[in-house]
Amino acid sequence: MQHHAALRKALGKRLPDGLILLRGGRHIPRNGDVDFVFRQTSDFLYLTGVEEADCFLLIDPRRDRHTLFIPRIDNYHRVWLGHVPGPREAKTLYGFSQVLYSDQLESTVKKARRGYRKTYADEKVCGKWREVPRLPNRRAQLRDALDELRACKTEDEIELMRRANAISGRAHRKVMSSARHGQFEYQVQAVFESESLTAGLKQLAYPSIVAAGANGAVLHYHRNNARLNDGDMLLIDAGAECGGYAADITRTFPVNGKFTNRQRDIYSIVLRTQKTCIERARPGVVSAQLHVLSMTLIAEGLKSLGLLRGEVSGLVEGGAVRLFYPHGLTHMLGLDVHDVTGGRKRRMANPTKIPVRFVARLEPGFVITMEPGIYFIKALLLDPALRRKHRGSIDFTKAEKFLDFGGVRIEDDIVIQPQGPPLNLTTVPKEISDVEECCER
Ligand code: GLY
Ligand code: MN
Ligand code: MN
Repeated sequence: MQHHAALRKALGKRLPDGLILLRGGRHIPRNGDVDFVFRQTSDFLYLTGVEEADCFLLIDPRRDRHTLFIPRIDNYHRVWLGHVPGPREAKTLYGFSQVLYSDQLESTVKKARRGYRKTYADEKVCGKWREVPRLPNRRAQLRDALDELRACKTEDEIELMRRANAISGRAHRKVMSSARHGQFEYQVQAVFESESLTAGLKQLAYPSIVAAGANGAVLHYHRNNARLNDGDMLLIDAGAECGGYAADITRTFPVNGKFTNRQRDIYSIVLRTQKTCIERARPGVVSAQLHVLSMTLIAEGLKSLGLLRGEVSGLVEGGAVRLFYPHGLTHMLGLDVHDVTGGRKRRMANPTKIPVRFVARLEPGFVITMEPGIYFIKALLLDPALRRKHRGSIDFTKAEKFLDFGGVRIEDDIVIQPQGPPLNLTTVPKEISDVEECCER
């Protein structure tokens, strides 16, 4: 409660000259009388901790008054929804000095707007109400202030992320120790999700990716309906959220518990890359530089296996390595699995020659993922134009022998520290010997 109140105050300090208005999430109908599972919007959760739908938040920064608006629930709704806190209960539950019904919002805003020349209302409020505040709205500035605040995590937020990671990590270990050939990917998914739910984490941070064999090369594989074969690798990218904060963890392990030489070769390159990049993730370093480092290490590794040839710098700059590693190394993590990247003040030009999506100078309190990978993707390796372009750099005949392999990704969640290497929140085995031990059949 105090945490959310402090964050509202901090937002008010950044935007002291206007009324701040946010609308929380609404139920989204799926069909008939059924809604999709409700998840509060991340901004609203950040500022209030309220997990109920259909609420509003008004911050009057000059008077330091924060008001939560909740829907007026009648007895008919109580029959279907059970107990929903009323204003008095919500005050103590959520730590607001004022809680009103949403039908009092308009009149409250009309009174509160006195002395203000602008509003900072999010787009969802604007959708409801183009007219009411009748003040110029600075929506982009609100977005920017929220992005700036949300980028650096507080101790309380890191604690929630540690818990999301600890429980998701336990679920990953259970998956490693229990997966067997003959099972279906969805049965492995069930093990992960059951462990998380049993431990009290009711919401996943994103749809679980459980990909056996060649499916491991599909970056956002969600079918999860194939059988696990003896000799396959299994890639599982899954994380639960705690208090809205995500874990985002990937492990890749042999279904039968023992790495083959080929699996060991590919896995070792990814692991070395990931560990080196984690070690280098320090304040002041630009995320794009780490991405280039990861491409370089993967190119070196694939060159040593004879899959790539030529100068490593050319393999990186010319893009040949991207056919095996076509995604980013890292992204911000928080209330969203791909979290906000930090606001206008932090926006910067990419200091490398390599185009990457996430470019930010790392700061203490940033929580980011580290997730290099190597994949053998038919759509890329069999593409005629790409084959022509990279024929001098890639041994396509050799690469085709890996088309049944799938991919390896190893993903941990780390917290940038003021000095020294980051704190790694992820505690799932990743060294080959530890993975084999955890997989003991
Ligand atoms: N799980 C999505 C990602 O790793 O970015
Ligand atoms: Mn990720
Ligand atoms: Mn992931």
